[in-house]
Amino acid sequence: MLAGVAMISKRKIAVAGGLGCGGTKGTGWTRWTVDRMDGAFVLFSWDAGVLIGAVRIDILSLFPNICQGALAESIIKRAQSKELVTIKSHDIRDWARDKHHITDAPPYGGGQGMVMKAEPIFEAVEEICNGSPGAKVVLMSPAGRTLTQKIAAEYSKEEHVVIVCGHYEGVDQRVVDHLCHDEISIGDYVLTNGAIAATVFVDAFVRLIPGVLGDEGSAADDSFAKGLLEFPQYTRPVEYRGWRVPDVLLSGHHGEIAKWRAQKSLEKTQKNRPDLLL
Ligand SMILES: C[S@@+](CC[C@H](N)C(=O)[O-])C[C@H]1O[C@@H](n2cnc3c(N)ncnc32)[C@H](O)[C@@H]1O
Repeated sequence: MLAGVAMISKRKIAVAGGLGCGGTKGTGWTRWTVDRMDGAFVLFSWDAGVLIGAVRIDILSLFPNICQGALAESIIKRAQSKELVTIKSHDIRDWARDKHHITDAPPYGGGQGMVMKAEPIFEAVEEICNGSPGAKVVLMSPAGRTLTQKIAAEYSKEEHVVIVCGHYEGVDQRVVDHLCHDEISIGDYVLTNGAIAATVFVDAFVRLIPGVLGDEGSAADDSFAKGLLEFPQYTRPVEYRGWRVPDVLLSGHHGEIAKWRAQKSLEKTQKNRPDLLL
């Protein structure tokens, strides 16, 4: 392949020296893109039309438009344009075999509401994962592990994530027991459907994929990254309705600013999330 290219992981190939930034080149047998990440140049390569470097995300729900709309804006849109990630939303009804595309049925044992049937979900996930044995299958569920920044960081390292979204009363337990590797909740409350939760989950981990945020440092300073909430931020003007920006932030003393931010970060955590300090 190219001189000065080293494999970091299956997903990333580092390029020693400056080959360029954000360009796409042809090498005759493969195409490659060089991008800047973490201060180094990183090369994403294509093989037989498949982008090797990109993270693949498939979202399965009854409301694909919810995810499609929300994930086609801003930073996540740019991540897709830069081909750092490919996100596809699928309608589970497309895998329902009956002529009315029914995906739910009443619960055995009685009770309110409807439960999403196992068959269309199994068939959809199996078709999508065909040829992708390492894919991680996740069910969005209020009964799952609560999403944290640490979990988001773990998922940002996956190569292929398939997300199943429930609706009605939830999904047949056999989906949980025999198809999914993980169940993720976005918090201790119940939403009407999993597509909303999946959008939050995807946004949380895609922004941590190297190269997605413009300034790589911005995720490092975020709330939770170091176990505390982020310090207060200010921008222009210096004074608004008599409320001034703290003088230390205008002083230019980097040491003092860092000390002030550390102190404010601690105070804010003590006030709003004392549980993080236990
Ligand atoms: C109305 S909820 C079902 C709630 C279920 N009966 C229960 O009590 O656990 C429908 C779907 O929305 C999604 N959902 C709702 N709240 C969620 C949350 N906090 N985190 C992740 N997914 C959620 C799940 O996919 C769930 O199957």
